[in-house]
Amino acid sequence: MSDSHKSSRFPQGDDRRVAHEETERQTKRLIDRFKTNPQSIFDRYFWLDTDLDYKGGSSLSYYETFKDVLPEGTKLLKDYIEEVLKARWGDAVFADFGGVGSNIAKAFTPGFFKRSFGVALFDERFRPSTEWRTEEMRAADAALNHTVIEGDLRDPDLYEHLRKELQGEKLDLLIERMGKGLEFSPTDTRTVGALLQTWYDLVREDGLMLIQIPIHFNIFIKAWVEEVQKETGGTLEIRYAIGDSDAGTDAQSVLLIHKQPGAPEKLPMLTATEVEELIQHDRKK
Ligand SMILES: C[S@@+](CC[C@H](N)C(=O)[O-])C[C@H]1O[C@@H](n2cnc3c(N)ncnc32)[C@H](O)[C@@H]1O
Repeated sequence: MSDSHKSSRFPQGDDRRVAHEETERQTKRLIDRFKTNPQSIFDRYFWLDTDLDYKGGSSLSYYETFKDVLPEGTKLLKDYIEEVLKARWGDAVFADFGGVGSNIAKAFTPGFFKRSFGVALFDERFRPSTEWRTEEMRAADAALNHTVIEGDLRDPDLYEHLRKELQGEKLDLLIERMGKGLEFSPTDTRTVGALLQTWYDLVREDGLMLIQIPIHFNIFIKAWVEEVQKETGGTLEIRYAIGDSDAGTDAQSVLLIHKQPGAPEKLPMLTATEVEELIQHDRKK
Protein backbone atom coordinates (compact mmCIF):
# COMPACT_ATOMS: atom_id res chain seq x y z
CA MET A 1 0.00 0.00 0.00
CA SER A 2 1.42 3.41 -0.93
CA ASP A 3 2.15 6.02 1.75
CA SER A 4 -0.35 8.50 0.29
CA HIS A 5 -3.08 5.85 0.35
CA LYS A 6 -2.21 4.90 3.92
CA SER A 7 -2.33 8.51 5.14
CA SER A 8 -5.75 8.99 3.52
CA ARG A 9 -7.07 6.20 5.78
CA PHE A 10 -6.88 8.52 8.78
CA PRO A 11 -7.74 11.97 7.45
CA GLN A 12 -7.06 15.06 9.50
CA GLY A 13 -8.40 18.62 9.34
CA ASP A 14 -10.16 19.44 6.08
CA ASP A 15 -9.64 15.91 4.73
CA ARG A 16 -11.47 14.58 7.77
CA ARG A 17 -14.44 16.86 7.09
CA VAL A 18 -14.47 15.83 3.41
CA ALA A 19 -14.40 12.12 4.37
CA HIS A 20 -17.35 12.61 6.73
CA GLU A 21 -19.33 14.47 4.06
CA GLU A 22 -18.65 11.70 1.55
CA THR A 23 -19.89 9.07 4.04
CA GLU A 24 -22.98 11.22 4.62
CA ARG A 25 -23.65 11.37 0.85
CA GLN A 26 -23.21 7.61 0.43
CA THR A 27 -25.55 6.87 3.34
CA LYS A 28 -28.20 9.18 1.94
CA ARG A 29 -27.81 7.65 -1.54
CA LEU A 30 -28.31 4.14 -0.12
CA ILE A 31 -31.41 5.16 1.84
CA ASP A 32 -32.91 6.98 -1.20
CA ARG A 33 -32.18 4.02 -3.44
CA PHE A 34 -33.74 1.60 -1.03
CA LYS A 35 -36.86 3.74 -0.65
CA THR A 36 -37.37 3.87 -4.42
CA ASN A 37 -36.28 0.30 -5.11
CA PRO A 38 -36.26 -1.84 -1.95
CA GLN A 39 -34.97 -4.86 -3.85
CA SER A 40 -31.72 -2.94 -4.53
CA ILE A 41 -30.61 -3.70 -0.97
CA PHE A 42 -29.14 -6.94 -2.31
CA ASP A 43 -26.76 -4.99 -4.57
CA ARG A 44 -25.06 -3.97 -1.38
CA TYR A 45 -25.65 -6.47 1.42
CA PHE A 46 -26.05 -10.18 1.53
CA TRP A 47 -26.16 -10.46 5.32
CA LEU A 48 -29.49 -9.17 6.55
CA ASP A 49 -31.22 -10.08 9.81
CA THR A 50 -28.81 -12.98 10.10
CA ASP A 51 -29.14 -15.75 12.67
CA LEU A 52 -27.18 -15.61 15.90
CA ASP A 53 -26.03 -19.22 15.53
CA TYR A 54 -25.89 -21.21 12.32
CA LYS A 55 -29.26 -22.63 11.34
CA GLY A 56 -28.57 -23.48 7.71
CA GLY A 57 -28.62 -21.18 4.69
CA SER A 58 -25.80 -19.17 3.17
CA SER A 59 -25.51 -16.20 5.54
CA LEU A 60 -22.67 -16.19 8.01
CA SER A 61 -24.04 -16.38 11.55
CA TYR A 62 -22.96 -13.92 14.23
CA TYR A 63 -21.26 -16.88 15.94
CA GLU A 64 -18.92 -17.28 12.95
CA THR A 65 -17.86 -13.64 13.26
CA PHE A 66 -17.31 -13.72 17.04
CA LYS A 67 -16.14 -17.31 17.63
CA ASP A 68 -12.47 -16.28 18.04
CA VAL A 69 -13.23 -14.13 21.10
CA LEU A 70 -15.47 -16.69 22.81
CA PRO A 71 -14.09 -19.07 25.46
CA GLU A 72 -12.63 -22.23 23.97
CA GLY A 73 -15.19 -24.91 23.36
CA THR A 74 -18.16 -22.49 23.04
CA LYS A 75 -20.49 -24.02 20.49
CA LEU A 76 -23.37 -21.54 20.57
CA LEU A 77 -23.33 -17.77 21.03
CA LYS A 78 -26.80 -18.09 22.57
CA ASP A 79 -25.47 -20.38 25.35
CA TYR A 80 -22.49 -18.14 26.04
CA ILE A 81 -24.62 -14.98 26.29
CA GLU A 82 -27.26 -16.62 28.49
CA GLU A 83 -24.54 -17.99 30.81
CA VAL A 84 -22.76 -14.62 31.19
CA LEU A 85 -26.05 -12.78 31.76
CA LYS A 86 -27.84 -15.50 33.75
CA ALA A 87 -28.37 -13.24 36.80
CA ARG A 88 -30.53 -11.04 34.55
CA TRP A 89 -32.86 -13.78 33.32
CA GLY A 90 -36.27 -12.27 32.53
CA ASP A 91 -35.04 -8.68 32.95
CA ALA A 92 -32.34 -8.51 30.33
CA VAL A 93 -32.42 -6.07 27.39
CA PHE A 94 -30.32 -6.21 24.23
CA ALA A 95 -29.73 -4.09 21.16
CA ASP A 96 -28.34 -5.10 17.79
CA PHE A 97 -26.60 -2.06 16.27
CA GLY A 98 -26.49 -2.04 12.48
CA GLY A 99 -29.13 -4.66 11.94
CA VAL A 100 -32.83 -5.27 12.48
CA GLY A 101 -31.96 -7.97 15.02
CA SER A 102 -35.26 -9.79 14.76
CA ASN A 103 -33.72 -13.22 14.18
CA ILE A 104 -31.33 -12.61 17.08
CA ALA A 105 -34.32 -11.96 19.35
CA LYS A 106 -35.82 -15.27 18.22
CA ALA A 107 -32.62 -17.19 19.04
CA PHE A 108 -32.74 -16.82 22.83
CA THR A 109 -34.66 -18.94 25.29
CA PRO A 110 -38.16 -17.44 25.39
CA GLY A 111 -38.44 -14.97 28.27
CA PHE A 112 -34.68 -14.53 28.79
CA PHE A 113 -34.72 -11.03 27.29
CA LYS A 114 -37.71 -8.95 28.26
CA ARG A 115 -37.05 -6.41 25.51
CA SER A 116 -34.81 -5.87 22.54
CA PHE A 117 -33.99 -3.40 19.80
CA GLY A 118 -32.54 -3.46 16.31
CA VAL A 119 -31.05 -0.26 14.91
CA ALA A 120 -30.59 -0.04 11.16
CA LEU A 121 -30.67 2.65 8.48
CA PHE A 122 -33.99 1.18 7.39
CA ASP A 123 -35.95 -1.97 8.03
CA GLU A 124 -34.78 -3.86 5.01
CA ARG A 125 -37.02 -6.86 5.71
CA PHE A 126 -40.03 -5.06 4.28
CA ARG A 127 -39.79 -5.29 0.49
CA PRO A 128 -42.40 -6.06 -2.18
CA SER A 129 -40.99 -9.58 -2.47
CA THR A 130 -41.61 -10.24 1.23
CA GLU A 131 -44.98 -8.50 1.44
CA TRP A 132 -46.76 -11.79 2.03
CA ARG A 133 -44.77 -12.15 5.30
CA THR A 134 -45.06 -8.58 6.56
CA GLU A 135 -47.79 -9.26 9.08
CA GLU A 136 -46.12 -12.42 10.33
CA MET A 137 -42.81 -10.55 10.81
CA ARG A 138 -44.47 -7.68 12.66
CA ALA A 139 -46.37 -10.11 14.89
CA ALA A 140 -43.17 -12.04 15.69
CA ASP A 141 -41.41 -8.78 16.71
CA ALA A 142 -44.37 -7.74 18.85
CA ALA A 143 -44.55 -11.16 20.57
CA LEU A 144 -40.90 -10.83 21.58
CA ASN A 145 -41.19 -7.15 22.52
CA HIS A 146 -38.62 -6.42 19.81
CA THR A 147 -38.52 -2.90 18.32
CA VAL A 148 -36.70 -1.87 15.17
CA ILE A 149 -35.49 1.73 15.19
CA GLU A 150 -34.66 3.20 11.80
CA GLY A 151 -31.79 5.60 12.34
CA ASP A 152 -28.14 6.42 11.80
CA LEU A 153 -25.70 5.29 14.47
CA ARG A 154 -23.61 8.40 13.81
CA ASP A 155 -26.55 10.65 14.68
CA PRO A 156 -26.85 11.86 18.33
CA ASP A 157 -30.67 12.01 17.92
CA LEU A 158 -30.70 8.23 17.51
CA TYR A 159 -29.22 7.78 21.00
CA GLU A 160 -31.73 10.27 22.39
CA HIS A 161 -34.50 8.15 20.89
CA LEU A 162 -33.02 4.91 22.23
CA ARG A 163 -32.52 6.32 25.75
CA LYS A 164 -36.18 7.38 25.78
CA GLU A 165 -37.20 3.87 24.77
CA LEU A 166 -35.00 2.42 27.51
CA GLN A 167 -36.67 4.62 30.13
CA GLY A 168 -33.59 4.87 32.32
CA GLU A 169 -32.54 1.25 31.86
CA LYS A 170 -29.27 0.16 30.30
CA LEU A 171 -28.44 -2.65 27.92
CA ASP A 172 -27.28 -6.06 29.11
CA LEU A 173 -26.05 -6.90 25.63
CA LEU A 174 -24.94 -4.67 22.80
CA ILE A 175 -24.08 -6.58 19.65
CA GLU A 176 -22.90 -5.05 16.38
CA ARG A 177 -21.95 -6.96 13.25
CA MET A 178 -22.43 -4.56 10.36
CA GLY A 179 -20.28 -6.35 7.82
CA LYS A 180 -20.29 -4.29 4.69
CA GLY A 181 -22.35 -1.65 6.52
CA LEU A 182 -19.09 -0.62 8.17
CA GLU A 183 -18.45 1.37 5.01
CA PHE A 184 -20.79 3.85 6.66
CA SER A 185 -18.73 4.04 9.80
CA PRO A 186 -16.58 7.08 10.54
CA THR A 187 -13.08 6.99 9.13
CA ASP A 188 -11.14 8.63 11.93
CA THR A 189 -10.05 7.44 15.35
CA ARG A 190 -11.49 10.39 17.25
CA THR A 191 -15.04 9.78 15.98
CA VAL A 192 -14.82 6.01 16.41
CA GLY A 193 -13.42 6.47 19.94
CA ALA A 194 -16.38 8.72 20.81
CA LEU A 195 -18.81 6.21 19.28
CA LEU A 196 -17.34 3.32 21.30
CA GLN A 197 -17.60 5.46 24.43
CA THR A 198 -21.31 6.17 23.69
CA TRP A 199 -21.96 2.46 23.22
CA TYR A 200 -20.03 1.55 26.40
CA ASP A 201 -22.10 4.10 28.38
CA LEU A 202 -25.31 2.42 27.19
CA VAL A 203 -24.30 -0.94 28.69
CA ARG A 204 -24.95 -1.74 32.36
CA GLU A 205 -22.40 -3.07 34.81
CA ASP A 206 -21.89 -6.78 34.16
CA GLY A 207 -23.16 -6.26 30.62
CA LEU A 208 -21.58 -7.56 27.45
CA MET A 209 -20.51 -5.95 24.18
CA LEU A 210 -19.73 -7.90 21.02
CA ILE A 211 -18.48 -5.48 18.42
CA GLN A 212 -17.14 -5.78 14.89
CA ILE A 213 -14.43 -3.20 14.17
CA PRO A 214 -13.58 -2.11 10.59
CA ILE A 215 -10.24 -3.72 9.58
CA HIS A 216 -9.19 -0.16 8.76
CA PHE A 217 -8.57 0.16 12.54
CA ASN A 218 -6.52 -3.05 12.90
CA ILE A 219 -3.31 -1.13 13.59
CA PHE A 220 -4.71 0.26 16.87
CA ILE A 221 -6.52 -2.72 18.37
CA LYS A 222 -3.67 -4.54 20.15
CA ALA A 223 -2.15 -1.39 21.69
CA TRP A 224 -5.57 -0.12 22.75
CA VAL A 225 -6.59 -3.42 24.37
CA GLU A 226 -3.28 -3.53 26.27
CA GLU A 227 -3.88 0.02 27.47
CA VAL A 228 -7.41 -0.84 28.62
CA GLN A 229 -6.16 -3.94 30.46
CA LYS A 230 -3.43 -1.96 32.19
CA GLU A 231 -5.71 0.88 33.24
CA THR A 232 -8.70 -1.14 34.37
CA GLY A 233 -6.86 -3.69 36.49
CA GLY A 234 -8.91 -6.66 35.30
CA THR A 235 -12.38 -5.20 35.98
CA LEU A 236 -12.99 -5.11 32.26
CA GLU A 237 -12.70 -8.40 30.46
CA ILE A 238 -11.67 -7.53 26.94
CA ARG A 239 -10.70 -9.86 24.12
CA TYR A 240 -10.00 -9.18 20.47
CA ALA A 241 -9.37 -10.96 17.21
CA ILE A 242 -7.81 -9.32 14.19
CA GLY A 243 -9.33 -10.21 10.85
CA ASP A 244 -8.63 -9.38 7.25
CA SER A 245 -12.06 -8.60 5.84
CA ASP A 246 -15.13 -6.61 6.89
CA ALA A 247 -17.53 -8.94 5.10
CA GLY A 248 -17.46 -12.25 3.30
CA THR A 249 -16.31 -15.55 4.75
CA ASP A 250 -12.83 -14.41 5.86
CA ALA A 251 -12.21 -13.51 9.50
CA GLN A 252 -13.46 -10.13 10.73
CA SER A 253 -11.89 -7.89 13.40
CA VAL A 254 -13.90 -8.17 16.60
CA LEU A 255 -13.97 -7.21 20.25
CA LEU A 256 -15.62 -8.75 23.29
CA ILE A 257 -15.98 -6.45 26.30
CA HIS A 258 -17.48 -7.74 29.54
CA LYS A 259 -18.08 -4.80 31.84
CA GLN A 260 -17.61 -6.65 35.14
CA PRO A 261 -18.52 -5.17 38.54
CA GLY A 262 -16.14 -2.31 39.31
CA ALA A 263 -15.45 -1.58 35.65
CA PRO A 264 -14.60 2.08 35.02
CA GLU A 265 -17.31 4.50 33.93
CA LYS A 266 -15.28 5.56 30.93
CA LEU A 267 -13.46 3.40 28.45
CA PRO A 268 -9.75 4.31 28.40
CA MET A 269 -8.62 5.58 25.01
CA LEU A 270 -5.22 5.94 23.33
CA THR A 271 -3.84 9.47 23.40
CA ALA A 272 -3.53 11.48 20.18
CA THR A 273 0.26 10.98 20.36
CA GLU A 274 -0.07 7.20 20.73
CA VAL A 275 -2.48 7.11 17.77
CA GLU A 276 -0.09 9.17 15.65
CA GLU A 277 2.85 6.90 16.57
CA LEU A 278 0.89 3.82 15.50
CA ILE A 279 -0.05 5.47 12.20
CA GLN A 280 3.59 6.45 11.57
CA HIS A 281 4.78 2.96 12.51
CA ASP A 282 2.27 1.44 10.09
CA ARG A 283 3.38 3.75 7.29
CA LYS A 284 6.96 2.58 7.67
CA LYS A 285 6.04 -1.09 7.31
C1 LIG B 1 -24.55 -6.14 5.91
S1 LIG B 1 -25.94 -5.59 6.85
C2 LIG B 1 -25.68 -6.48 8.34
C3 LIG B 1 -26.98 -6.68 9.07
C4 LIG B 1 -26.88 -7.53 10.34
N1 LIG B 1 -26.00 -6.96 11.31
C5 LIG B 1 -26.45 -8.93 10.00
O1 LIG B 1 -25.30 -9.30 10.28
O2 LIG B 1 -27.29 -9.64 9.44
C6 LIG B 1 -25.46 -3.94 7.26
C7 LIG B 1 -26.44 -3.25 8.17
O3 LIG B 1 -25.82 -2.07 8.66
C8 LIG B 1 -26.83 -1.07 8.75
N2 LIG B 1 -26.12 0.20 8.77
C9 LIG B 1 -25.12 0.63 7.97
N3 LIG B 1 -24.71 1.84 8.32
C10 LIG B 1 -25.46 2.21 9.39
C11 LIG B 1 -25.52 3.36 10.20
N4 LIG B 1 -24.72 4.40 9.98
N5 LIG B 1 -26.45 3.42 11.18
C12 LIG B 1 -27.29 2.37 11.39
N6 LIG B 1 -27.25 1.24 10.69
C13 LIG B 1 -26.35 1.15 9.69
C14 LIG B 1 -27.67 -1.29 7.52
O4 LIG B 1 -28.94 -0.68 7.65
C15 LIG B 1 -27.73 -2.82 7.52
O5 LIG B 1 -28.79 -3.26 8.33
